[in-house]
Amino acid sequence: MSSETYNPAEYWNMREHPNTAAAPDINVHDRQFITPILEEAKSVLELGPGVGRLFPLYKNVPRVATVDLSRNYADRAKDAALNVGISVEAFYLDTPLAPLPFMAGEFDVGIAAHVLMHVPFENIEHSMSELARVCKQVRVISVVHRFWPKKGTRFDPKWHCFNHDYEAICKSLNLQFGDYEKFSEGADIGSFGFSFRLNS
Ligand SMILES: C[S@@+](CC[C@H](N)C(=O)[O-])C[C@H]1O[C@@H](n2cnc3c(N)ncnc32)[C@H](O)[C@@H]1O
Repeated sequence: MSSETYNPAEYWNMREHPNTAAAPDINVHDRQFITPILEEAKSVLELGPGVGRLFPLYKNVPRVATVDLSRNYADRAKDAALNVGISVEAFYLDTPLAPLPFMAGEFDVGIAAHVLMHVPFENIEHSMSELARVCKQVRVISVVHRFWPKKGTRFDPKWHCFNHDYEAICKSLNLQFGDYEKFSEGADIGSFGFSFRLNS
């Protein structure tokens, strides 16, 4: 990385693979947590699709759109869409603080899998409130790790993973938080899912 500070757009445009494994699969938690919410959906927006790992889940959704910071994965994401036989409207942001290029309530469902944990503390409220603005409900899969920073602690500014207190962020943004499900919990790392939406 050229920068001494984590710059999300630069980092994700430089990183070769968005996932830890080069050719990642959908795992059982992704499938079980995301599939039910897509059953009735006419439109889905995925924030940070990377190389389209989750695209097979969208086979029966009439409209699929994505927003990423990185164009580095675009060709591989296009191949993933072709393999599944879906058409994807792919958008790219130059900066994570840009508004999402959609109208309020335009999507039935928003998905953010392993994305919000890479959004720095100073940007997370923007990302979550924009998702809540354009999606009627949002489903998140995320991870917490013993060695990742929490808000208010000192950390290496190059670091790119963050432990967010998503429930507290929803509360501060007046968003409805729910469907919390713990997928795994180890000594160092835990993974979980939750939903949020605008309060009605
Ligand atoms: C760890 S990868 C996860 C990819 C995919 N969601 C998955 O589960 O396989 C993180 C992805 O989020 C994107 N990303 C990170 N911050 C973002 C932001 N603020 N807005 C949109 N995309 C972002 C990265 O470019 C990358 O594609």
